[in-house]
Amino acid sequence: MPVPSLQKALFLEAKQGQWVVRSTEVVRPEPGDIVVKVEAAALGGVEWKIQAWGVLVKKYPVTLGLDGAGTVVELGEGVTTFAVGDRVLFQGNWDAATGTGTGTFLQYFTVPAQFVAKIPDNISFEAASTVPLGVGTAAFSIYNQADSAPSARYLAPWLPGGRGKYAGKSAVILGGSTSHGQYALQLVRLSGFSPIITTGSLHNTDLLKSFGATHVLDRKLSDEEIEAQVTQIAGGSVDLVYDAVSVGGTFPLALALTAPGGNMLVVQVAPDKIVEEARKDGKTVHKIHGVFRTPINHEISRTLLAKLPELLESGDIKPNRWEVLPGGLNGIVGGLERMKNDQVSGVKLVVRPQETD
Ligand SMILES: NC(=O)c1ccc[n+]([C@@H]2O[C@H](COP(=O)([O-])OP(=O)(O)OC[C@H]3O[C@@H](n4cnc5c(N)ncnc54)[C@H](OP(=O)(O)O)[C@@H]3O)[C@@H](O)[C@H]2O)c1
Repeated sequence: MPVPSLQKALFLEAKQGQWVVRSTEVVRPEPGDIVVKVEAAALGGVEWKIQAWGVLVKKYPVTLGLDGAGTVVELGEGVTTFAVGDRVLFQGNWDAATGTGTGTFLQYFTVPAQFVAKIPDNISFEAASTVPLGVGTAAFSIYNQADSAPSARYLAPWLPGGRGKYAGKSAVILGGSTSHGQYALQLVRLSGFSPIITTGSLHNTDLLKSFGATHVLDRKLSDEEIEAQVTQIAGGSVDLVYDAVSVGGTFPLALALTAPGGNMLVVQVAPDKIVEEARKDGKTVHKIHGVFRTPINHEISRTLLAKLPELLESGDIKPNRWEVLPGGLNGIVGGLERMKNDQVSGVKLVVRPQETD
């Protein structure tokens, strides 16, 4: 397939600066890379925060976006696991240590083949684009067994002996309607956890139950009310607490719900006071990191990406619900504004970069 030398991409031009769609070169593949024509890219909770708060990114201009899906159009030297024309999903590249990366808010993405999965025929590009960051974030924090990984270290349900292994253990997912919260619900269901208690807006109850929640509690309840209900449902505090929200004051609730010796997983760095209190009670706080390309995630990425097509095809893992924004890459800025204003509920916003004017 012909690959152009130039493409359109959405750039954040400077720290807390302007978003601009403009031309840029298509990155040539190194050995081991593939070039993908991006048919769908999904928006995440982090992109508006980078623009509004000036956090995480150290080098501008930058193209953000951590989720994508599309068609392989070129193979780098030595790639044998994919062919031109394959439908694939992939993450944007993000290096937390240097604060640099290249995202999926563009038309052609160049990515090492080892961090890509094929999309089964029953899954659309739009649905597939909701998967990579969310499933990695949930999976790595619960199941990564690599030395010093920030993880609860359970045996993954896609590995031999993992499916149903934790029957009788309880789990809480705070914010089950977030993109990665939906994948966390599905993964702990595959692991056999029960009860699985989540918080969210009650209009998402059926959705959250379809992903595996056994109990849905209104996120508007006070921490004391949620704690009382969780204690009653689970018969005490719980072994695994996954805080998919972490901003806006969920840390104390997550800490209170975690059993002594249990694991509390958080998406933002927890305050020192929370970490210290957890340690006193024998609880461990892990800061979730869902990027495939981070070295500590390489081995678990390998096994997950190998099984992901099968998990998606069978429906064991279902993509997020999605909504397409019009205007291709030009639609992203309005979508991020809606996310910032808490106007997106239980749905992942997606653009089709090839529709960019
Ligand atoms: N560290 C990492 O590797 C990593 C990876 C991915 C994401 N993240 C972070 O995780 C967070 C979520 O990101 P996302 O893109 O998956 O989700 P998202 O789509 O931004 O989440 C939106 C959902 O959050 C829910 N929510 C908001 N406040 C809540 C609260 N107090 N209690 C319960 N639910 C609440 C809402 O649920 P209802 O509509 O049901 O009310 C809403 O549907 C972001 O802060 C993001 O930066 C971190």
